[in-house]
Amino acid sequence: MKFYILCILLSLSITTVSPLLSDETDQTKFTECEGGPYPNTITNILISPNPLVIGQSASYTFNGTRNVEILKGSTIGFLIIDENYETILETKDDFCSIVETTNEKCPLPIGDYEFTYGLNIYSNKESSPENLDKPPKTCLYQLIIRDPKDIILSCIQGPVDLSYVFTASNNGF
Ligand SMILES: *[C@@H]1O[C@H](CO)[C@@H](O)[C@H](O)[C@H]1NC(C)=O
Repeated sequence: MKFYILCILLSLSITTVSPLLSDETDQTKFTECEGGPYPNTITNILISPNPLVIGQSASYTFNGTRNVEILKGSTIGFLIIDENYETILETKDDFCSIVETTNEKCPLPIGDYEFTYGLNIYSNKESSPENLDKPPKTCLYQLIIRDPKDIILSCIQGPVDLSYVFTASNNGF
């Protein structure tokens, strides 16, 4: 199961596209996690689509400055929890295998970077009829990059809207 999910994530990860972060109005809000400051800063992040849709694919792009290298064995984790602190999505992947699908290779050097990653917004919660009628709800996301010894290199969190259906498909007919 884990391997299957990783394959989906890998096949969805796409190469770096610079213009994504240039429109500042669309950017996703965030603050650094408690326990910071962490060595590798994140300047901007864009999670799309907005709202995220359960059962659909999504992606996030972020940039910043690395003050320490990313070594083989580092991980990237993405977590979404709802207002009741229930986990909606939790992923943890080998960062270096992901960057190898672009033309980069670990160790990733110190300096400015930009990174895009695909996500599958699956959920073990059934999308019951009453959920389908609800407006998107605001959840909390957290993005954590850890080194091979599990020391946190980057950690941010912020609000993200989550929907059970595409808003557009909800107002027809
Ligand atoms: C991140 O992207 C923004 C918007 O394009 C840009 O202004 C900023 O300089 C970038 N930061 C880094 C560290 O590359």
